Amino acid sequence: MMQSRKIFKDYYEFLFGDHKQWFLSGTMPNTVISQLEDAKVFKRKNGPLVFWHEYRNYLEFLDKINASPSPYSHEIQIKFTKLTDRFLTIANLFEQNIVEKEIVKFRRSFIECIRDFLNKSKYINRALNKPRGYPGDYLVFENLYDGLITSKGIGRYFDIFALNDLLSQSIINRKNKMKDLIKKNIDGLNKKLITILNVGCGSCREVEELLNEHNFINKKICFDFIDQDTEAIKFAKRKLGKFSKERQFTFFQTSALQLFGFGDRGGLVLNKKYDMIYSIGVVDYFLDNVLEKFIAYYSSHLNRGGTLIFAICSNIENRTYAPMVWFYDWYIYLRNPQDAIGIANTTFSLSNICIVWEKNRQIFFVNCRKK
Ligand SMILES: C[S@@+](CC[C@H](N)C(=O)[O-])C[C@H]1O[C@@H](n2cnc3c(N)ncnc32)[C@H](O)[C@@H]1O
Repeated sequence: MMQSRKIFKDYYEFLFGDHKQWFLSGTMPNTVISQLEDAKVFKRKNGPLVFWHEYRNYLEFLDKINASPSPYSHEIQIKFTKLTDRFLTIANLFEQNIVEKEIVKFRRSFIECIRDFLNKSKYINRALNKPRGYPGDYLVFENLYDGLITSKGIGRYFDIFALNDLLSQSIINRKNKMKDLIKKNIDGLNKKLITILNVGCGSCREVEELLNEHNFINKKICFDFIDQDTEAIKFAKRKLGKFSKERQFTFFQTSALQLFGFGDRGGLVLNKKYDMIYSIGVVDYFLDNVLEKFIAYYSSHLNRGGTLIFAICSNIENRTYAPMVWFYDWYIYLRNPQDAIGIANTTFSLSNICIVWEKNRQIFFVNCRKK
Protein backbone atom coordinates (compact mmCIF):
# COMPACT_ATOMS: atom_id res chain seq x y z
CA MET A 1 0.00 0.00 0.00
CA MET A 2 2.93 2.37 0.64
CA GLN A 3 3.87 2.23 -3.04
CA SER A 4 0.24 2.87 -4.05
CA ARG A 5 0.12 5.89 -1.78
CA LYS A 6 3.25 7.26 -3.40
CA ILE A 7 1.72 6.75 -6.85
CA PHE A 8 -1.47 8.48 -5.73
CA LYS A 9 0.52 11.39 -4.33
CA ASP A 10 2.44 11.77 -7.61
CA TYR A 11 -0.78 11.59 -9.53
CA TYR A 12 -2.41 14.18 -7.32
CA GLU A 13 0.59 16.43 -7.78
CA PHE A 14 0.40 15.95 -11.51
CA LEU A 15 -3.25 17.04 -11.48
CA PHE A 16 -2.99 19.80 -8.88
CA GLY A 17 0.59 21.00 -9.02
CA ASP A 18 -0.42 24.57 -8.16
CA HIS A 19 -1.13 23.53 -4.60
CA LYS A 20 2.20 21.83 -4.09
CA GLN A 21 3.17 23.88 -1.01
CA TRP A 22 0.17 22.74 1.07
CA PHE A 23 0.27 19.33 -0.38
CA LEU A 24 3.88 18.73 0.63
CA SER A 25 3.76 20.31 4.07
CA GLY A 26 0.34 18.92 4.90
CA THR A 27 -0.55 22.18 6.62
CA MET A 28 -3.64 23.93 5.49
CA PRO A 29 -4.63 27.47 6.43
CA ASN A 30 -7.55 27.60 8.87
CA THR A 31 -9.43 29.81 6.46
CA VAL A 32 -9.49 26.94 4.01
CA ILE A 33 -10.61 24.43 6.61
CA SER A 34 -13.42 26.69 7.76
CA GLN A 35 -14.70 26.85 4.20
CA LEU A 36 -14.93 23.12 4.01
CA GLU A 37 -18.70 22.90 4.04
CA ASP A 38 -19.20 25.68 1.54
CA ALA A 39 -19.62 23.82 -1.72
CA LYS A 40 -19.38 26.92 -3.89
CA VAL A 41 -16.05 28.05 -2.49
CA PHE A 42 -14.94 24.46 -2.51
CA LYS A 43 -15.56 24.14 -6.21
CA ARG A 44 -14.13 27.51 -7.14
CA LYS A 45 -10.71 27.32 -5.65
CA ASN A 46 -10.05 25.28 -2.55
CA GLY A 47 -11.31 21.87 -3.55
CA PRO A 48 -7.90 20.28 -4.13
CA LEU A 49 -6.54 21.54 -0.81
CA VAL A 50 -9.57 20.43 1.12
CA PHE A 51 -9.53 17.01 -0.50
CA TRP A 52 -5.87 16.46 0.25
CA HIS A 53 -6.32 17.48 3.86
CA GLU A 54 -9.28 15.11 4.15
CA TYR A 55 -7.46 12.29 2.42
CA ARG A 56 -4.51 12.50 4.80
CA ASN A 57 -6.72 12.60 7.89
CA TYR A 58 -8.80 9.70 6.66
CA LEU A 59 -5.79 7.54 5.90
CA GLU A 60 -4.24 8.34 9.24
CA PHE A 61 -7.48 7.28 10.94
CA LEU A 62 -7.69 4.02 8.96
CA ASP A 63 -4.02 3.20 9.65
CA LYS A 64 -4.62 3.70 13.36
CA ILE A 65 -7.66 1.44 13.44
CA ASN A 66 -5.91 -1.21 11.43
CA ALA A 67 -2.89 -1.17 13.75
CA SER A 68 -4.97 -1.21 16.92
CA PRO A 69 -5.26 -4.53 18.74
CA SER A 70 -8.42 -3.40 20.60
CA PRO A 71 -11.65 -5.31 19.99
CA TYR A 72 -14.54 -3.92 17.96
CA SER A 73 -16.10 -0.89 19.58
CA HIS A 74 -19.41 0.78 18.88
CA GLU A 75 -17.93 4.21 19.68
CA ILE A 76 -15.21 3.71 17.08
CA GLN A 77 -17.83 2.56 14.59
CA ILE A 78 -19.73 5.82 15.01
CA LYS A 79 -16.55 7.79 14.36
CA PHE A 80 -15.62 5.50 11.48
CA THR A 81 -18.99 5.98 9.79
CA LYS A 82 -18.88 9.74 10.34
CA LEU A 83 -15.38 10.12 8.91
CA THR A 84 -16.04 7.78 6.01
CA ASP A 85 -19.22 9.66 5.14
CA ARG A 86 -17.35 12.92 5.37
CA PHE A 87 -14.50 11.66 3.21
CA LEU A 88 -16.95 10.50 0.54
CA THR A 89 -18.83 13.80 0.60
CA ILE A 90 -15.60 15.75 0.10
CA ALA A 91 -14.41 13.32 -2.57
CA ASN A 92 -17.74 13.66 -4.36
CA LEU A 93 -17.50 17.46 -4.34
CA PHE A 94 -13.83 17.40 -5.20
CA GLU A 95 -14.13 15.24 -8.28
CA GLN A 96 -15.97 18.07 -9.95
CA ASN A 97 -12.51 19.67 -10.25
CA ILE A 98 -11.15 16.79 -12.24
CA VAL A 99 -11.41 16.55 -15.98
CA GLU A 100 -13.73 13.72 -17.00
CA LYS A 101 -11.07 11.51 -18.52
CA GLU A 102 -8.99 11.52 -15.33
CA ILE A 103 -11.75 10.84 -12.80
CA VAL A 104 -11.91 7.06 -13.01
CA LYS A 105 -8.11 6.76 -13.06
CA PHE A 106 -7.87 9.04 -10.04
CA ARG A 107 -10.48 7.10 -8.06
CA ARG A 108 -8.82 3.79 -8.93
CA SER A 109 -5.49 5.15 -7.84
CA PHE A 110 -7.12 6.11 -4.53
CA ILE A 111 -8.63 2.64 -4.09
CA GLU A 112 -5.12 1.15 -4.31
CA CYS A 113 -4.13 3.27 -1.28
CA ILE A 114 -6.69 1.49 0.91
CA ARG A 115 -7.24 -1.77 -0.97
CA ASP A 116 -5.78 -3.93 1.81
CA PHE A 117 -8.29 -2.43 4.25
CA LEU A 118 -11.22 -2.71 1.85
CA ASN A 119 -10.32 -6.34 1.19
CA LYS A 120 -10.71 -7.11 4.88
CA SER A 121 -14.43 -6.41 4.59
CA LYS A 122 -15.98 -9.58 3.14
CA TYR A 123 -18.81 -7.56 1.65
CA ILE A 124 -16.60 -4.95 -0.03
CA ASN A 125 -14.00 -7.54 -1.05
CA ARG A 126 -16.50 -9.27 -3.32
CA ALA A 127 -17.98 -6.03 -4.64
CA LEU A 128 -14.51 -4.67 -5.41
CA ASN A 129 -12.78 -7.78 -6.76
CA LYS A 130 -15.69 -9.10 -8.84
CA PRO A 131 -14.88 -12.83 -8.83
CA ARG A 132 -17.66 -13.57 -11.36
CA GLY A 133 -16.09 -11.12 -13.81
CA TYR A 134 -18.77 -8.44 -13.61
CA PRO A 135 -19.92 -5.98 -10.92
CA GLY A 136 -22.79 -6.84 -8.59
CA ASP A 137 -23.05 -10.61 -8.71
CA TYR A 138 -25.76 -12.60 -6.93
CA LEU A 139 -23.68 -13.12 -3.77
CA VAL A 140 -22.90 -9.43 -3.32
CA PHE A 141 -26.65 -8.89 -3.25
CA GLU A 142 -27.38 -11.90 -1.06
CA ASN A 143 -24.81 -10.63 1.45
CA LEU A 144 -26.43 -7.22 1.36
CA TYR A 145 -29.97 -8.60 1.77
CA ASP A 146 -28.80 -10.79 4.65
CA GLY A 147 -26.86 -7.94 6.26
CA LEU A 148 -24.38 -10.50 7.55
CA ILE A 149 -21.38 -8.99 9.28
CA THR A 150 -18.66 -11.59 9.48
CA SER A 151 -15.42 -9.64 8.97
CA LYS A 152 -12.89 -8.89 11.65
CA GLY A 153 -10.70 -5.91 12.53
CA ILE A 154 -11.00 -2.91 10.24
CA GLY A 155 -13.06 -5.08 7.86
CA ARG A 156 -15.89 -5.15 10.36
CA TYR A 157 -16.04 -1.34 10.48
CA PHE A 158 -16.16 -1.26 6.68
CA ASP A 159 -18.80 -4.02 6.58
CA ILE A 160 -21.10 -2.11 8.90
CA PHE A 161 -20.54 1.15 7.06
CA ALA A 162 -21.17 -0.42 3.65
CA LEU A 163 -24.24 -2.43 4.60
CA ASN A 164 -25.95 0.53 6.24
CA ASP A 165 -25.28 3.39 3.90
CA LEU A 166 -28.05 5.07 1.95
CA LEU A 167 -27.41 3.23 -1.30
CA SER A 168 -27.39 -0.20 0.34
CA GLN A 169 -30.60 0.55 2.17
CA SER A 170 -32.16 1.80 -1.06
CA ILE A 171 -31.18 -1.42 -2.84
CA ILE A 172 -32.88 -3.40 -0.09
CA ASN A 173 -35.93 -1.15 -0.49
CA ARG A 174 -35.82 -1.81 -4.22
CA LYS A 175 -36.04 -5.56 -3.64
CA ASN A 176 -38.92 -5.07 -1.18
CA LYS A 177 -40.77 -2.69 -3.47
CA MET A 178 -40.38 -5.13 -6.35
CA LYS A 179 -41.94 -7.80 -4.18
CA ASP A 180 -44.94 -5.51 -3.56
CA LEU A 181 -45.27 -4.77 -7.27
CA ILE A 182 -45.25 -8.47 -8.20
CA LYS A 183 -47.85 -9.18 -5.52
CA LYS A 184 -50.05 -6.33 -6.75
CA ASN A 185 -49.81 -7.58 -10.31
CA ILE A 186 -50.67 -11.14 -9.36
CA ASP A 187 -53.61 -9.98 -7.23
CA GLY A 188 -54.84 -7.72 -10.02
CA LEU A 189 -54.87 -10.45 -12.64
CA ASN A 190 -58.10 -12.33 -12.91
CA LYS A 191 -56.55 -15.42 -14.45
CA LYS A 192 -55.83 -18.93 -13.28
CA LEU A 193 -52.46 -19.10 -15.02
CA ILE A 194 -50.07 -16.17 -14.59
CA THR A 195 -46.73 -16.00 -16.37
CA ILE A 196 -43.87 -13.85 -15.12
CA LEU A 197 -40.40 -13.31 -16.56
CA ASN A 198 -37.52 -11.91 -14.49
CA VAL A 199 -34.56 -10.63 -16.50
CA GLY A 200 -31.21 -10.70 -14.67
CA CYS A 201 -32.65 -12.70 -11.80
CA GLY A 202 -29.48 -13.20 -9.74
CA SER A 203 -30.46 -15.11 -6.59
CA CYS A 204 -34.25 -14.55 -7.15
CA ARG A 205 -34.43 -13.23 -3.62
CA GLU A 206 -37.64 -11.22 -4.09
CA VAL A 207 -39.40 -14.30 -5.50
CA GLU A 208 -38.20 -16.51 -2.67
CA GLU A 209 -39.46 -13.98 -0.09
CA LEU A 210 -42.72 -13.43 -1.94
CA LEU A 211 -43.52 -17.14 -2.03
CA ASN A 212 -42.54 -17.52 1.61
CA GLU A 213 -44.94 -14.74 2.55
CA HIS A 214 -47.94 -15.54 0.30
CA ASN A 215 -49.36 -18.77 -1.01
CA PHE A 216 -51.56 -17.34 -3.78
CA ILE A 217 -54.17 -20.04 -3.41
CA ASN A 218 -56.01 -20.94 -6.63
CA LYS A 219 -53.42 -19.27 -8.83
CA LYS A 220 -50.99 -21.11 -10.98
CA ILE A 221 -47.92 -18.96 -11.40
CA CYS A 222 -45.12 -19.82 -13.81
CA PHE A 223 -41.90 -17.95 -13.28
CA ASP A 224 -39.25 -17.81 -16.00
CA PHE A 225 -35.82 -16.46 -15.18
CA ILE A 226 -32.98 -15.20 -17.35
CA ASP A 227 -29.44 -14.73 -16.13
CA GLN A 228 -26.03 -14.88 -17.76
CA ASP A 229 -24.33 -16.35 -14.70
CA THR A 230 -24.44 -20.14 -14.27
CA GLU A 231 -23.53 -19.88 -10.58
CA ALA A 232 -26.35 -17.44 -9.89
CA ILE A 233 -28.80 -19.80 -11.58
CA LYS A 234 -27.53 -22.78 -9.60
CA PHE A 235 -27.90 -20.83 -6.39
CA ALA A 236 -31.41 -19.58 -7.26
CA LYS A 237 -32.59 -23.06 -8.28
CA ARG A 238 -31.49 -24.41 -4.94
CA LYS A 239 -33.25 -21.59 -3.05
CA LEU A 240 -36.51 -21.97 -4.96
CA GLY A 241 -36.44 -25.77 -4.89
CA LYS A 242 -38.68 -25.88 -1.83
CA PHE A 243 -41.57 -24.33 -3.81
CA SER A 244 -41.20 -26.46 -6.92
CA LYS A 245 -44.15 -28.73 -6.07
CA GLU A 246 -46.70 -25.90 -6.33
CA ARG A 247 -44.91 -23.50 -8.68
CA GLN A 248 -43.20 -23.83 -11.99
CA PHE A 249 -39.74 -22.33 -12.49
CA THR A 250 -37.79 -22.27 -15.73
CA PHE A 251 -34.28 -20.89 -15.93
CA PHE A 252 -32.56 -19.66 -19.08
CA GLN A 253 -28.84 -19.15 -18.90
CA THR A 254 -28.24 -16.52 -21.54
CA SER A 255 -27.42 -12.88 -22.08
CA ALA A 256 -30.53 -10.73 -21.97
CA LEU A 257 -28.92 -8.59 -24.68
CA GLN A 258 -28.09 -11.41 -27.04
CA LEU A 259 -31.80 -12.17 -27.27
CA PHE A 260 -32.39 -8.89 -29.05
CA GLY A 261 -29.40 -8.79 -31.27
CA PHE A 262 -26.36 -7.67 -29.27
CA GLY A 263 -23.37 -10.00 -29.38
CA ASP A 264 -23.45 -13.45 -30.94
CA ARG A 265 -26.63 -14.56 -32.67
CA GLY A 266 -28.09 -17.96 -32.03
CA GLY A 267 -28.76 -19.62 -28.71
CA LEU A 268 -32.07 -19.11 -26.96
CA VAL A 269 -35.12 -17.85 -28.81
CA LEU A 270 -37.82 -16.61 -26.47
CA ASN A 271 -41.12 -17.74 -27.92
CA LYS A 272 -43.44 -17.15 -24.96
CA LYS A 273 -45.57 -14.24 -23.82
CA TYR A 274 -45.90 -13.05 -20.26
CA ASP A 275 -48.30 -11.16 -18.01
CA MET A 276 -45.43 -9.45 -16.30
CA ILE A 277 -41.77 -8.93 -17.19
CA TYR A 278 -39.48 -7.21 -14.74
CA SER A 279 -35.83 -6.47 -14.16
CA ILE A 280 -33.99 -4.99 -11.21
CA GLY A 281 -30.29 -4.12 -11.05
CA VAL A 282 -29.71 -4.73 -14.75
CA VAL A 283 -30.59 -1.81 -17.05
CA ASP A 284 -28.33 0.53 -15.05
CA TYR A 285 -25.47 -1.05 -17.03
CA PHE A 286 -27.05 -0.26 -20.40
CA LEU A 287 -26.47 2.68 -22.69
CA ASP A 288 -29.67 4.48 -23.73
CA ASN A 289 -29.84 2.82 -27.15
CA VAL A 290 -29.52 -0.62 -25.51
CA LEU A 291 -32.22 0.23 -22.98
CA GLU A 292 -34.46 1.36 -25.82
CA LYS A 293 -34.03 -2.00 -27.56
CA PHE A 294 -34.47 -3.86 -24.28
CA ILE A 295 -37.85 -2.18 -23.75
CA ALA A 296 -38.99 -2.78 -27.32
CA TYR A 297 -37.94 -6.43 -27.27
CA TYR A 298 -39.42 -7.38 -23.91
CA SER A 299 -42.63 -5.44 -24.54
CA SER A 300 -43.12 -7.61 -27.62
CA HIS A 301 -43.19 -10.58 -25.23
CA LEU A 302 -46.01 -9.17 -23.10
CA ASN A 303 -49.59 -10.36 -23.28
CA ARG A 304 -52.18 -7.65 -23.88
CA GLY A 305 -52.65 -5.78 -20.61
CA GLY A 306 -49.27 -7.09 -19.44
CA THR A 307 -46.74 -5.03 -17.48
CA LEU A 308 -43.05 -4.33 -17.99
CA ILE A 309 -41.24 -2.97 -14.94
CA PHE A 310 -37.58 -2.08 -14.68
CA ALA A 311 -35.70 -0.34 -11.88
CA ILE A 312 -33.36 2.60 -12.47
CA CYS A 313 -30.83 4.27 -10.18
CA SER A 314 -31.65 7.96 -10.00
CA ASN A 315 -29.09 10.67 -10.78
CA ILE A 316 -30.83 13.23 -8.60
CA GLU A 317 -28.36 12.85 -5.71
CA ASN A 318 -25.14 11.50 -7.12
CA ARG A 319 -23.42 11.61 -3.71
CA THR A 320 -25.39 8.44 -2.94
CA TYR A 321 -23.19 6.52 -5.38
CA ALA A 322 -19.86 7.74 -3.96
CA PRO A 323 -19.15 4.43 -2.11
CA MET A 324 -19.56 2.54 -5.38
CA VAL A 325 -17.03 4.57 -7.31
CA TRP A 326 -14.57 5.44 -4.51
CA PHE A 327 -14.51 2.05 -2.75
CA TYR A 328 -15.91 -0.67 -5.04
CA ASP A 329 -14.72 0.46 -8.50
CA TRP A 330 -18.27 -0.19 -9.68
CA TYR A 331 -19.86 1.87 -12.43
CA ILE A 332 -23.42 2.24 -13.66
CA TYR A 333 -25.37 4.82 -15.68
CA LEU A 334 -27.59 7.02 -13.55
CA ARG A 335 -30.77 8.47 -15.03
CA ASN A 336 -33.58 10.77 -14.06
CA PRO A 337 -37.25 9.82 -14.39
CA GLN A 338 -37.85 12.21 -17.28
CA ASP A 339 -35.06 10.64 -19.35
CA ALA A 340 -36.28 7.15 -18.49
CA ILE A 341 -39.84 8.05 -19.48
CA GLY A 342 -38.50 9.48 -22.76
CA ILE A 343 -36.77 6.20 -23.51
CA ALA A 344 -39.81 4.09 -22.57
CA ASN A 345 -41.95 6.40 -24.70
CA THR A 346 -40.26 5.08 -27.85
CA THR A 347 -42.28 1.88 -27.24
CA PHE A 348 -45.13 2.78 -24.86
CA SER A 349 -47.44 5.78 -25.00
CA LEU A 350 -47.01 8.27 -22.13
CA SER A 351 -50.40 7.44 -20.65
CA ASN A 352 -49.20 3.87 -20.10
CA ILE A 353 -45.97 4.74 -18.31
CA CYS A 354 -45.71 5.62 -14.65
CA ILE A 355 -42.87 6.07 -12.16
CA VAL A 356 -42.80 4.48 -8.72
CA TRP A 357 -40.07 5.18 -6.13
CA GLU A 358 -38.59 3.07 -3.39
CA LYS A 359 -38.81 4.57 0.09
CA ASN A 360 -35.56 6.58 0.04
CA ARG A 361 -36.27 8.00 -3.43
CA GLN A 362 -32.86 6.99 -4.75
CA ILE A 363 -34.12 4.28 -7.10
CA PHE A 364 -37.28 4.34 -9.18
CA PHE A 365 -39.26 1.87 -11.24
CA VAL A 366 -40.56 2.52 -14.72
CA ASN A 367 -43.87 0.77 -14.92
CA CYS A 368 -45.22 0.30 -18.46
CA ARG A 369 -48.52 -1.29 -19.41
CA LYS A 370 -49.22 -2.85 -22.79
CA LYS A 371 -52.62 -1.95 -24.20
C1 LIG B 1 -27.10 -6.57 -9.88
S1 LIG B 1 -27.56 -8.24 -10.00
C2 LIG B 1 -29.23 -8.15 -9.52
C3 LIG B 1 -29.82 -9.47 -9.22
C4 LIG B 1 -31.28 -9.44 -8.79
N1 LIG B 1 -32.14 -8.98 -9.85
C5 LIG B 1 -31.46 -8.57 -7.56
O1 LIG B 1 -31.89 -7.44 -7.70
O2 LIG B 1 -31.11 -9.05 -6.48
C6 LIG B 1 -27.62 -8.40 -11.72
C7 LIG B 1 -27.86 -9.80 -12.23
O3 LIG B 1 -28.18 -9.67 -13.59
C8 LIG B 1 -27.38 -10.51 -14.36
N2 LIG B 1 -27.14 -9.82 -15.63
C9 LIG B 1 -26.54 -8.63 -15.80
N3 LIG B 1 -26.51 -8.30 -17.09
C10 LIG B 1 -27.11 -9.33 -17.75
C11 LIG B 1 -27.38 -9.59 -19.10
N4 LIG B 1 -27.02 -8.73 -20.05
N5 LIG B 1 -27.99 -10.74 -19.41
C12 LIG B 1 -28.37 -11.63 -18.47
N6 LIG B 1 -28.12 -11.44 -17.16
C13 LIG B 1 -27.52 -10.29 -16.81
C14 LIG B 1 -26.13 -10.76 -13.56
O4 LIG B 1 -25.54 -12.00 -13.90
C15 LIG B 1 -26.64 -10.70 -12.14
O5 LIG B 1 -27.02 -11.97 -11.67
